[in-house]
Amino acid sequence: MIDTHCHLEKEDYDNIDEIIDTCKKDGIEKLIVSGHDLKSSVEAIELTKKYDIVYASIGFLPDVLDNIENNNILELEKLIDNDKVVAIGEIGLDYHWYKDNKEEQKELLIKQLYLAKKYNKPVVIHSRDSISDCYNILKEANTKGAMHCYSGSVEMAKEFIKIGFNISIGGVSTFKNSNTIKNVIKEIPLEYILLETDSPYLTPEPFRGKKNYPYYVKYVAMKIAEIKGIDVDMVVNTTTMNATKLFDF
Ligand code: NI
Repeated sequence: MIDTHCHLEKEDYDNIDEIIDTCKKDGIEKLIVSGHDLKSSVEAIELTKKYDIVYASIGFLPDVLDNIENNNILELEKLIDNDKVVAIGEIGLDYHWYKDNKEEQKELLIKQLYLAKKYNKPVVIHSRDSISDCYNILKEANTKGAMHCYSGSVEMAKEFIKIGFNISIGGVSTFKNSNTIKNVIKEIPLEYILLETDSPYLTPEPFRGKKNYPYYVKYVAMKIAEIKGIDVDMVVNTTTMNATKLFDF
């Protein structure tokens, strides 16, 4: 099993040794720690040095547009050429939290897509209330990647798959009333699905409301198996293969 997207920042966890041990016991063979600004990207790379099962994804979310020291693309570029940096992300557009700087957000995303192409890495995309702008930019960019914590429609999921994207599913799929994502899981082939937790956020049932951990990714796998009416081993094996292929492990 691979948790393709989590955040293990010092300010959220003081027991990372224990978390990694539990992951190993629970059959998590790899996890990708995601940055969202310069500091968290550097921290993610530090974790890859300490733990064999940890890989990093590095990039800037639109949040950095408010914080000049944390948004130097040249500093980001210096970190990319590293075997354990398996993706550029999370990057994207967030019109839910930031409505007034859409053009700057797009510019920041496009610059990082260019970096991904230059270093031949896939991208991990964060999209909130911005799915069609994301789609148009990604289509143009011609990169492959993952739609992190996907929350769009079945139709859009199919369009993202056509342009080289996998659909990454997390804890929201286990929530009551999450019918849209359950429909997406039902309608798209398992060959395009990735598992993630987005720890410490979006904790799956039965722990919803508490802190999330990468080893809870099994609850997402179980939910997908239930929705698709297939064996959980098949979900685990296929999504592990999908992640291995996309992130070139
Ligand atoms: Ni995230």
